[in-house]
Amino acid sequence: MKNKIRNLKNWDNKTWLSSLAYINSFNTFLLKKKKLNQNSQILDIGCGRGKIFGSISRKIKLINKPIGIDPIVHKDVDKSIDFRNEDIFKFFKTNQIKFDLIMIKQTLHFFNKDKRSKLIKVCKNNLKKNGVLIILSLNTLNNEIPCFKVMKQKLNKGLKRDSIMIKSTCKILKNYNIDKFIFKVSITKNKYIQMLRQRYISCLSNINKNQLNKGIKEIKEIYPNKILFNDILICIKYKN
Ligand SMILES: C[S@@+](CC[C@H](N)C(=O)[O-])C[C@H]1O[C@@H](n2cnc3c(N)ncnc32)[C@H](O)[C@@H]1O
Repeated sequence: MKNKIRNLKNWDNKTWLSSLAYINSFNTFLLKKKKLNQNSQILDIGCGRGKIFGSISRKIKLINKPIGIDPIVHKDVDKSIDFRNEDIFKFFKTNQIKFDLIMIKQTLHFFNKDKRSKLIKVCKNNLKKNGVLIILSLNTLNNEIPCFKVMKQKLNKGLKRDSIMIKSTCKILKNYNIDKFIFKVSITKNKYIQMLRQRYISCLSNINKNQLNKGIKEIKEIYPNKILFNDILICIKYKN
């Protein structure tokens, strides 16, 4: 598991996930789910570099910096967030703030089943009235992420687990809405191969070097120089 998390250093390192287009499009989607104002208090669990909430903070001119929690400390964490390298349960133990918005984006699968349900419950309890919890996870059906064979097998296995995770999350939340966030990715094959080499997605963490090199050969053969696909996330929204 530690390996898996360490590899995620490259998750949003100069990829479409850190592009202005992605962040703007995602934040437009998010602000439709929850209207925010200068006084809003927001929390991002598994924030990575914190670019998403950093951008929201500047756009809305939040008085209180958004809090972002992540076990990995990046050198280039967004300056507009209050970054905490702290265990989330420890954070909630001492935290006094109720939030307007808590987001868990592509992070819930890092928690085991027990911790997941504990996390969801504690998030619910730390929302203001009308506060919103947003959970996002990779689309589990017809996922379009460009893959080589072994990668696809690993991804599908993970997505099966995610689908169970989503169902049990919905069961805990009871009142929720489901939507999809769709981002049209256009990326050169070379750049995508670079991302594969950096093991940008967790299904690549346990693949050995040989498998990775073979897989990259496959990608070189199968895909055009410009790769187009939809990056689709399932979005679960819970309102307090
Ligand atoms: C796939 S990345 C998503 C990053 C960010 N939410 C985004 O969507 O751009 C998953 C993030 O979850 C973080 N993470 C893993 N385990 C975690 C935990 N126990 N508590 C908080 N964050 C965790 C990783 O370090 C990583 O930054």
